[in-house]
Amino acid sequence: MSTEERPPSWVINPEIPSVARMYDYYLGGKDNFAADRRAGDRAVEAVPYVAEFVRANRRFLSHAVTLMARRGVRQFIDIGSGLPTQENVHQVAQRVVPDARVVYVDNDPIVLVHGRALLAGDPFTTVVQGDLREPQAVLDHREVAAQIDFDRPVGLLMLAILHFVHDEDGPARIVEQLRKRLASGSFVALSHGHAGRISPEAESQVRSAYGGTAAGDIVPRTPEQIMAFLDGTELLGPGLVPVEAWTPDTEPFTPDLAKAGFLAAVGRIP
Ligand SMILES: C[S@@+](CC[C@H](N)C(=O)[O-])C[C@H]1O[C@@H](n2cnc3c(N)ncnc32)[C@H](O)[C@@H]1O
Repeated sequence: MSTEERPPSWVINPEIPSVARMYDYYLGGKDNFAADRRAGDRAVEAVPYVAEFVRANRRFLSHAVTLMARRGVRQFIDIGSGLPTQENVHQVAQRVVPDARVVYVDNDPIVLVHGRALLAGDPFTTVVQGDLREPQAVLDHREVAAQIDFDRPVGLLMLAILHFVHDEDGPARIVEQLRKRLASGSFVALSHGHAGRISPEAESQVRSAYGGTAAGDIVPRTPEQIMAFLDGTELLGPGLVPVEAWTPDTEPFTPDLAKAGFLAAVGRIP
């Protein structure tokens, strides 16, 4: 870790559940502790199909990155990248564009440790510690500036992260600040938790499971609120739909939003 990287107020603590490690647990990974599994199990008890939409979210990542790369994007920023798993952004992008540049950004130090180990020796890819709630610091980060040419199109991914940005932190302002820096022809892909029509008890159990994590809460938002993050972009594929239904070739349709899950969309900045 370079001296410029500010350590967060918390460090890798196996007793405090981490949303990155809980996500790893849902995906069947090994980089999680008992506290993460306990919190994850409480969420799964309330919403038993969590692992299904989490896996679908990884397929969405693959579809979105492939589409962007085929449309000529050669550089990607993945904010809230999570612990490395299979088919990370650089592996997907570099199948289409072998020298695609990828910057992974996450505020969980465990992501930095595992990411740096995975990426050691890859000159086109880097992982930095950064916080989405401080978008200017992310954009100005030395390693971001070294990899990304903001005069050219960028593929910006914010998958399953914005629901960890609480309303008082101004998620709309944050997304706007990031978008403003992107050149015309850039793409924004996002997925975001929504509560569907699950019972208030189930929603409050999920929120209380996440309330004990370092992120502090998970904030499900309505389709309208999520859509607002992409205002002014040209939506690709089906528009904003449940993540399991998003492919680049799916026609727009009116989704059934009864189940809780992630809503996903990809927008092109005109
Ligand atoms: C649920 S995981 C999603 C991982 C990956 N984006 C995906 O969709 O497969 C959310 C990630 O966002 C990170 N995260 C949460 N809040 C963050 C913040 N304010 N800044 C940066 N990363 C954050 C967590 O550490 C975690 O790794």
